[in-house]
Amino acid sequence: MRTATVTIDPNALTHNLKQVKKRAPSSKVLAMVKANAYGHGVAMVLPALQQADAIGVASFTEALEARQLGWTKNIGLLEGVFSAREWQQAIEQDCSAVIHHQPQLDWALANIPSPDSATRVVWLKYNTGMNRLGFNYQQTIAAAKQLNEAGFQLILTTHFANADDRDHPLNAKQIQRFSEMLTLLKSTVNKNIQGSLCNSAGVVNFPEHHYDWVRPGIMLYGSSPVVDQSAKALNLQAAMEFGARIMALSMVNTGEAIGYGSRWIADQPTRTALVSIGYGDGYPRVVNEEACVCVLAKNKQDNSVQSYLCPVRGRVAMDMIVIDVSQMPEDISLDSKVILWGSSPHVDEVAAQAGTIGYELLCRLSTRPDRLKNHNLRCHLIQF
Ligand SMILES: Cc1ncc(COP(=O)(O)O)c(C=O)c1O
Repeated sequence: MRTATVTIDPNALTHNLKQVKKRAPSSKVLAMVKANAYGHGVAMVLPALQQADAIGVASFTEALEARQLGWTKNIGLLEGVFSAREWQQAIEQDCSAVIHHQPQLDWALANIPSPDSATRVVWLKYNTGMNRLGFNYQQTIAAAKQLNEAGFQLILTTHFANADDRDHPLNAKQIQRFSEMLTLLKSTVNKNIQGSLCNSAGVVNFPEHHYDWVRPGIMLYGSSPVVDQSAKALNLQAAMEFGARIMALSMVNTGEAIGYGSRWIADQPTRTALVSIGYGDGYPRVVNEEACVCVLAKNKQDNSVQSYLCPVRGRVAMDMIVIDVSQMPEDISLDSKVILWGSSPHVDEVAAQAGTIGYELLCRLSTRPDRLKNHNLRCHLIQF
C-alpha cells in the first residue's frame, strides 16, 4: 500500500506550551489553533493544549468545530465576527471576539451579551503599524469608551508586523504606541482593561512586553518564530512528522537524467530510491537542490535503526520523489521509512529550501496522507 503519513506528537505540543509558559510566566496563553491547528488537525492538538487558557481561531466555523470537539474554555475569534448574525452565534457559543472595525462595534453595541457571557469580553484591536486590522488612535479611544459604558470588559490588542526580526525599527514604534494607548485607556476609561501584544516571535523577542495575554501559534507546533534562532536553540520540539516509504530502488547511469524536465543529470552512477510522497501530499514542488530527506534503515545484523540524510534529485512530482541513496547500505528494505520533515530535517529547513516559511508548508498539507497520533514520536526520530 502507498504510504504517506502525518503523525502528530501530543507530548511535543505539551512541551512547547510549557516553553511558552516558562517564557511568559505572568501572562495567560491564548493558543492559536486556526487553519486546522496550523495543519496539524484541531482534533489532534486540543487534548494536548488543555493547559492553555483559551484558543484562538480565525473563523466562527473553526470555533464551532472546537466546541463540537469538547473545548469548554474560552475561544477567541481573532478576526471577529462577519455579520450581526455571527455576533449572535458567538454569544450562543460563548466566544470572545476581536472588534477591529465599526460594523463589528455596531453589532456588539446592538446586542449586548449577559454579564456572565464570555462574549462580554472583547479584544479591541488597535492598529499600531501593521495596517491590516484595527482602529486608529481616535477610533480606539472612542470605541473603548462606548464598549466600556455598555458593560464590556476590554482586552486591548494589536499585532506585530516584524516581531521575528528583533531589531526592525517598527517593533519599537508598535510597542510604544500600544503601551501609551493601554496606559491612556486604563487611566481614562477603566483601570481593569487588559493588554495583549505578543505572538510567538513577540514571546521570544520581547519578554518585557508580554502583558496579560500572549497569543503563540507557530512555536506551539515546534517551529522557530524568529530569524536568528533555530527551533532546537529555543528548545522547541517538532509536533509533526511527515513521512513516507521507499517504494522502489533503481540505478541511474552517468549522463542520465531523473524526472520531469530532466533537470538533474547523474555525473556518476547513482543509486536512487523512489519515495511515495509528492506535491499532491503537500511536499513542496519548489525545493532547491539542498533538499534532503531522512531515511531510517534497519541494520539487518543487529536490528538497530540507522538514519541517513539523502538528497532529493530531480523535480518533485505529484505522487513521488527520487532520492539519492548512494551512501546507504546496498540492502535497503523496500519499505524503509522516509521522513520529509520532523525533528530532522526540520520543517523550517525544508521551508527555507522551498523559499517559504514553515507555516505555509504545515498549512498546505493535503488530505491524502493518513493522519496518525504517536505519543512517542521522538523515540524513533533520530537527532543529528
Ligand atoms: C492576531 C494574531 N495573533 C497571534 C498569531 C500567532 O502568530 P504566530 O503563529 O506567529 O505565533 C496570529 C497568527 O497569524 C495572529 O494573526
